[in-house]
Amino acid sequence: MHQVTLVPGDGIGPEVTRAAREVVLAPGAKIEFEEVLAGQRAERDLGTPLPAAVFDSIARTKLALKGPTQTPFGGDYRIHIERKDARGKLEKRTYPSITIALRKELGLFVNVRPIKNYPGVSSRFDKVDLLIFRENSEDLYMGMERMIDEGTAEAIKIISLRASERVTRFALDYMRKLGRRKLTIGHKANVMKMTDGLFLKTAQDTAKQYREIEVNQRVVDALCMELVMKPEEFDSLLLPNLYGDIVSDLAAGLVGGLGLAPGANIGPDCAMFEAVHGTAPDIAGKDIANPMAMILSAVMLLRHVGEAGAADRIEAALAAVLREKRHVTPDLGGDAGTRRMSEAIVEKLARP
Ligand code: NAI
Repeated sequence: MHQVTLVPGDGIGPEVTRAAREVVLAPGAKIEFEEVLAGQRAERDLGTPLPAAVFDSIARTKLALKGPTQTPFGGDYRIHIERKDARGKLEKRTYPSITIALRKELGLFVNVRPIKNYPGVSSRFDKVDLLIFRENSEDLYMGMERMIDEGTAEAIKIISLRASERVTRFALDYMRKLGRRKLTIGHKANVMKMTDGLFLKTAQDTAKQYREIEVNQRVVDALCMELVMKPEEFDSLLLPNLYGDIVSDLAAGLVGGLGLAPGANIGPDCAMFEAVHGTAPDIAGKDIANPMAMILSAVMLLRHVGEAGAADRIEAALAAVLREKRHVTPDLGGDAGTRRMSEAIVEKLARP
């Protein structure tokens, strides 16, 4: 039995994680969920948005399925972490958001985001099948920002050879396993000569050991333009943290929106699965959020733990519901709710 920490999160998080939980348990996968709170409810009920219980649970389970958590725009909101190191010394760290705190503290150095067309889902493009690898531990996301004076703010961008090499190697090994053959490195090394320059050179040098994979590069702005004109020409993308975040949402838009984009954060000790989308406050609590991205994130979890049979059955059931179009959420052109859509998938699992 695989124990999995479940974090419902904020906004649409509880709705879509409930759907994912029900769908995952339906085909009899050997999964047991342990629910812990993080986010606004944790802050209200437990006095902190990211309680130690979350880390304690993931330390045990090594696996998490996480709903989105809200972060205010701007201001001085920070997540404060106090943890003892191996020698018992108390360490204090701060992060810009709950998700970044979890990724950093748990050593989840890569964010894998498969984004593709699904039969039955209308979108501006067909033949899109992208696999995005986003470096997850550094870049401008380290939260090293300060006001120099009232009218000037500063942020520090960190790129290291070690992290760039680690994420490139992971991406190429992952591609090898899936038989994918073309990797495009996104960067802005013409302007960010040292930081993105180091990322690009390290990725290119590392890729020389993977001769069967064709590796090319694009300046990230040109990459965005090409992606919205001819996305079918791209296969896998490797990007530093910030560009990876932006390009993921762009890619989701190519195939029908954020409701379709799952993700996995992976590290040497544990893995945390979460959709690309956020808390969607505009639709939260209305039972209209598309649960697909969270369900597909759970499918990635199942594959990660070797439950490929259950993963295949869920994907087939989801595909059938999408093809029939009767029980899909409004973003997919239907009028079903989150609950009804997940029930329809569970029904298909029971009677394929
Ligand atoms: P968002 O991804 O929450 O929403 C963007 C748009 O996509 C909205 O119109 C929303 O309704 C739609 N959308 C998102 N997920 C959907 C779904 N499953 N079904 C149908 N429509 C969906 O991005 P936004 O509004 O920029 O961020 C809201 C909050 O989420 C912020 O506090 C942000 O910090 C947080 N966030 C958290 C993430 C995480 O915990 N991993 C990731 C991204 C954002």
